[in-house]
Amino acid sequence: QILILDFGSQYTQLIARRVRELNVYCEIHPFNKVPAITPDIKGVILSGSPCSVRDQNSPTVDISAFSNVPVLGVCYGAQLIAHQQGGNVLPSQIREYGRAKLNTVNHANELLKEISLDTQVWMSHADTIASVPDTFEIIATTPSVAVAAYKVKNQKVWGIQFHPEVTHTTEGKNLLRNFVVHICGCNQDWTADQFVDTTIASLKARLGNDQVVMALSGGVDSTVAAILVHKAIGKNLHCIFVDNGLLRKNEFQQVLDSYQHMGLNIKGVDAKDKFYAALKDLTEPEAKRKAIGRTFIEVFDEEAHLISDVKWLGQGTIYPDVIESVSVNGPSQTIKSHHNVGGLPEKMKLKIVEPLNTLFKDEVRVVGKTLGIDPTILGRHPFPGPGLGIRILGDVTADKVRILQEVDAIFIGGLRDSGLYDKVWQAGAMLLPVQSVGVMGDERTYERVVSLRAVTSTDGMTADWAHLPYEFLANVSSDIINKVKGVNRVVYDISSKPPATIEWE
Ligand code: XMP
Repeated sequence: QILILDFGSQYTQLIARRVRELNVYCEIHPFNKVPAITPDIKGVILSGSPCSVRDQNSPTVDISAFSNVPVLGVCYGAQLIAHQQGGNVLPSQIREYGRAKLNTVNHANELLKEISLDTQVWMSHADTIASVPDTFEIIATTPSVAVAAYKVKNQKVWGIQFHPEVTHTTEGKNLLRNFVVHICGCNQDWTADQFVDTTIASLKARLGNDQVVMALSGGVDSTVAAILVHKAIGKNLHCIFVDNGLLRKNEFQQVLDSYQHMGLNIKGVDAKDKFYAALKDLTEPEAKRKAIGRTFIEVFDEEAHLISDVKWLGQGTIYPDVIESVSVNGPSQTIKSHHNVGGLPEKMKLKIVEPLNTLFKDEVRVVGKTLGIDPTILGRHPFPGPGLGIRILGDVTADKVRILQEVDAIFIGGLRDSGLYDKVWQAGAMLLPVQSVGVMGDERTYERVVSLRAVTSTDGMTADWAHLPYEFLANVSSDIINKVKGVNRVVYDISSKPPATIEWE
């Protein structure tokens, strides 16, 4: 595997994505928690960073610890190596952000083998390597960056100022392949098939005859995780699917049916009334999230106790949730508490099994496909744990849920019928806590407003509002107003994230 050391760049996860796309396993670790360099680590990549190596407290690492394996510094990583070995890193004279072209390329160097002259690279840095010591060989330049890439002469150490991990660097993947495959000698044998085989084998060994309990949500991650555990231990996996009364229209029954169809040992629990009671009169978003999370734990705990001798709790946690991200600006402010069931493992005193905790989201989908899971489940939009509870602004009642379910079903059904569902990353409707005046026939109406939201995104961290066709929006709007009693106005949300968030609460 390849070890990626994170210095806080926004692109670190992308480096890992690209390496994995080469069928090479890699892990990200924070720069200040370097794991032992065991023989299975074949190379190290140092990420970029928003910091400057010239600052006293900038993140650093002693690269002599990696003398047995090849090292590639990217951007800040390259500056750090140059700085440590006697080079000069200074603020750039001109802004070096965006596309550039390599106007000299040393093709004799293994890292740049078959990288075209004039190839486009992506620059994003405020400092630049002004000079390197004699022990360095410059192997690529751009018209404005004299040290675009270097090799330390008698060490297996390279540095590149540009970002090979972003797609704007046209041949970035080839460069990473040169490093990971040709220089580090990694076998390209990390595939979904291989992941499935080794994971099932290790789950069998780890879980033996133990009983495992798992909460399923109908989402991609928990479903794929459950199928893997099920393949390993069969009926010893007990799945629970809770109807919190905040799901989409008919979703509970549909999802339950599809789980049964997959052969899972699943129990559906109707806890709608408990959730509505816990939410009664709550209007503040975080208070609602807490009430939903707490009620979920209570219901799940009660159900789990009905199964005798449970030892493990299975979870669909994925890699981005476990990467310890390096926050250079101190702890970040909690905008929304997404992890609504964080207290579950502690309360239940169970051991945790998380078969997907080394995978990125799109890798989970590929594994799901390998496992033969229905593509409609694998392609589902993300849906928040608190469900419609955070899409009904203000207090939640069963009546409001029913209205919103109808609106949501028309919108999502419309997206599917028009072939737009897979073109957006997430979509849904919000029930606003306002009424507006309208006219229907000859009568004045005074009813609710709903806002439709559809976004494009890759990871939900940033998002743009989806530019859905006007014709489509017009049809959905009149369908909603004609069919959903209690709604007389539909608006479309045209805010991107940031500054808005995807959910309204
Ligand atoms: P925001 O609204 O923060 O949403 O832009 C980003 C993504 O996270 C989902 N989301 C949640 N998921 N519990 C969840 O499991 C939550 O409390 C929660 N809040 C937001 C949201 O649907 C989007 O995909």
